[in-house]
Amino acid sequence: MEKLVALCKRRGIVFPSSEIYGGLGSTWDYGPLGVELKRNIKEAWWREMVQRRSDIVGLDAAILMHPRTWEASGHLQNFTDPLVDCKSCKHRFRPDQLDGKRCPECGGELTEPRRFNLMFKTFIGPVEDSSHTIYLRPETAQGIFVNFSNLLDTQRLKLPFGVAQIGKSFRNEITPGNFIFRTREFEQMEMEFFIPPDPAQEARWFDYWVDNRLNWYIKFGIRPENLRLRPHAAEELAHYSRGTTDIEYRFPFGWGELEGIAKRGSYDLDRHSEFSGKDLSYFDEETRTRYRPWVVEPAAGVDRVLLAFLLDAYSEDVVDGEPRVVLRLDPRLAPIKVAVLPLLRKSEQVEKALAVRNMLQPYFVTAYDQAGSIGRRYRRQDEIGTPFCVTIDHQTMEDDTVTLRDRDSTEQVRLPIAALVTELTERIGWHR
Ligand code: GAP
Repeated sequence: MEKLVALCKRRGIVFPSSEIYGGLGSTWDYGPLGVELKRNIKEAWWREMVQRRSDIVGLDAAILMHPRTWEASGHLQNFTDPLVDCKSCKHRFRPDQLDGKRCPECGGELTEPRRFNLMFKTFIGPVEDSSHTIYLRPETAQGIFVNFSNLLDTQRLKLPFGVAQIGKSFRNEITPGNFIFRTREFEQMEMEFFIPPDPAQEARWFDYWVDNRLNWYIKFGIRPENLRLRPHAAEELAHYSRGTTDIEYRFPFGWGELEGIAKRGSYDLDRHSEFSGKDLSYFDEETRTRYRPWVVEPAAGVDRVLLAFLLDAYSEDVVDGEPRVVLRLDPRLAPIKVAVLPLLRKSEQVEKALAVRNMLQPYFVTAYDQAGSIGRRYRRQDEIGTPFCVTIDHQTMEDDTVTLRDRDSTEQVRLPIAALVTELTERIGWHR
């Protein structure tokens, strides 16, 4: 993990946030390579969950929502962690994470546990009083439930159907940590799948989504032995759930949740109907009945998933007697898809390489590097997971061919410049 955190800093994947002011506990910024990786992960999810299906649509709801939302959703009352205060140094802790009965910082006496709401509060408009208090959303899901009628009225949706959303969520976690695993500001990829209120259908769709989501991680490169399913015990279920299974990854600090698949039933639509007084039911034309659908929800965290992809991809090996660090990221996720390198810094090779770079750039995120030996340049690309390097050499000047090097095998093949776009498109493989 330390090696990965150092690599992330050194190569511009993830930086500590507000670093010039000493950082802000457990907040992180994505650098030029991190932002590409993150976008690719969200793209991989969106394509699979929305664009390649005909039963799921997308939504992008506001982070700030009417405060009644959080009364209705139960978050105001239930979205809490137990917390104890040290009477001497005032530090706060989760009692379940303490070894003894005294403060781990100063040995002071601790208060009795009390409930601490995890939602960030702020004010809407210029008046800062309780009637203007609003919350930063702790999950994206509620934006979907409050739009249920809008979606039904405008989209000709027939059950079963899903609504997917990617966006920021905020939780004032008492104990954030483990790099980008647990932070107070993070991004979620959530999908609410609405089904008829029927236990058999619920069981079938729940199994379907657990299986579907597990396979998504494997498809994009995580080793199956580093993944496991963990059903929640009754006492750890979220207030809205009557059954949850987590997809966990074997992090260096132990197994940790990447995503939860939850049976939310009609809890959210029931509560929003009650609190808003609006009819949030669905008319089933087949059975000629009206009801509030049930929900099966796969909900993943982008930042944690990104960390898992990085950890799983990180490896060290030896090529031509030289040790190298290589990120074996799936080409679809890799921040840079191809690097163009002139073998020698001769003006004709440089000119040709820049022309090839310009040709590839409209299709792929393309890097260009002419600094240092070719071996060092390959290693620089390996370390950030660039799956392909195109090298321009003396033969290119004669027959317009280049070498294409594969990051993982380091094998090189020769092919015409004119074939590059097709070859790279096939190898990157978004169509798979
Ligand atoms: N709508 C359901 C929901 O929010 P959750 O299990 O609380 O369920 C879903 O959150 C996912 O969001 C988690 O599996 C995790 O990947 C991510 N997540 C939750 N809290 C997080 C935090 N403090 N930091 C980073 N990711 C977090």
